[in-house]
Amino acid sequence: MNSLATSLLEKIQGRQARAGVVGLGYVGLPLAVEFARAGLTTVGIDLDARKVDEINAGHSYIPDVPTADVARYRQAGRLSATTDFAVVGELDTINICVPTPLRKTKDPDMSYIVSAAEQIAKYLHPGLLIVLESTTYPGTTAELLQPMFEATGLKAGRDFFLAFSPERVDPANEKFNTRNTPKVVGGTTPDCCAVATALYATAVETIVPVTSTQVAEMVKLLENTFRAVNIGLVNELALMCDRMGIDVWEVVNAARTKPFGFMPFYPGPGLGGHCIPIDPFYLSWKAKQAGFEARFIELAGHVNSSMPHYVADKVGEALNTQRKAVNGSSVLVLGVTYKKDIDDIRESPALDVMHVLHQRGALLSYADPHVPSLRARDWPGGYDLSPVDLTRESLASFDCVVIVTDHRAFDWAMVAECAPLIVDTRNAIGASAGSHVFRLGAPQQKTQEAQSAAA
Ligand SMILES: NC(=O)c1ccc[n+]([C@@H]2O[C@H](COP(=O)([O-])OP(=O)(O)OC[C@H]3O[C@@H](n4cnc5c(N)ncnc54)[C@H](O)[C@@H]3O)[C@@H](O)[C@H]2O)c1
Repeated sequence: MNSLATSLLEKIQGRQARAGVVGLGYVGLPLAVEFARAGLTTVGIDLDARKVDEINAGHSYIPDVPTADVARYRQAGRLSATTDFAVVGELDTINICVPTPLRKTKDPDMSYIVSAAEQIAKYLHPGLLIVLESTTYPGTTAELLQPMFEATGLKAGRDFFLAFSPERVDPANEKFNTRNTPKVVGGTTPDCCAVATALYATAVETIVPVTSTQVAEMVKLLENTFRAVNIGLVNELALMCDRMGIDVWEVVNAARTKPFGFMPFYPGPGLGGHCIPIDPFYLSWKAKQAGFEARFIELAGHVNSSMPHYVADKVGEALNTQRKAVNGSSVLVLGVTYKKDIDDIRESPALDVMHVLHQRGALLSYADPHVPSLRARDWPGGYDLSPVDLTRESLASFDCVVIVTDHRAFDWAMVAECAPLIVDTRNAIGASAGSHVFRLGAPQQKTQEAQSAAA
């Protein structure tokens, strides 16, 4: 190990290192707080001055990060935030946690990483450790970042240290958090891996070193592609079950009793969030450059992105039983975040379902205890929406209620009892609620008249 690496290692282990985190969102803020908890003086850097002001005022804006933690480490002088990258000149380590969205063409949008790296490069100094955490295609650290930083004349592994460590945060998960979720780390050189491993060891219980940055990048894409493909498989099974009159929810729940070789995935209205709908396309884009077609990814993407249309068709089918058209019917969407009990609407399938229903002429409303408003730019309908107060009377006033996100805060018994017609994409209401409930991937319960006619 060279002397710069040894002295950085000693600084980290002695909690003398000054840590930086670029991008204080769902990933960056929890990480910054964990570094501060571990005893490192930590500075967050974000272009969003409102986030910087919140942290400096001792407040958290991320539901999984308690304000009490931000306030405690702020008061102790171990946590601060700035919009000014000049602070990088005083730091020993820096973690990059900026967004990695897709362009409309489904190509990676690397502009956030490039912009953050350009700023860091201005203040790059000997002994600095830089770790990329943003999910990205294999090769980003070696092919994009390393040349940008080495253009300063300093060399990775000799003068500064470079690594990739994928973030695995799962918002609203009550069991696993930044600290107890194992962290995979790959360095540009063995010294890079060693210092990055030491940094994470201050704040994370289990570190999993791998031999390169490319392996670490690929690990994250395997994890998220695994989810996208399995969700695609079960969504296709749901469409199949719908056609065949079999209850997909009962099938999955019975299959999951197999104690080995099976892991349950559930169907739903489509993929959402900043990871599962996006990350696999980073991989297929890169694979294409190597002349390889990632067929599972494309197929899963095709099935998953068709689900909002299936849900809209289901609404049409449900309204049809009451001699109503989608056009002109009032439809209440329950839950607009991409999964339950969180406040994040990025890539949420609810917005796609609303888009299709809006195009078909439905009069849309929504209810969601985690989303105080939907602005015109948040959804493709193009006008502002305020949430409906969920009462027995309000539920009864809609032609159809569509359950898209099954937040625990919703009173499902009241929804089942008061809504005249329900499309349930999450099996939130269950099989026995009555013939006014249309569940995704399951046969509709017959009315009493239909049952006696059949008998
Ligand atoms: N949210 C998740 O559950 C999750 C889980 C695992 C991995 N990831 C990955 O982590 C990365 C970050 O995701 P996130 O959900 O935290 O995003 P986010 O949008 O919540 O936060 C990103 C932050 O970066 C800031 N930012 C953007 N460009 C910047 C720049 N040039 N300099 C400084 N700050 C900048 C933004 O203002 C924002 O505060 C993405 O690559 C994502 O795929 C996210």
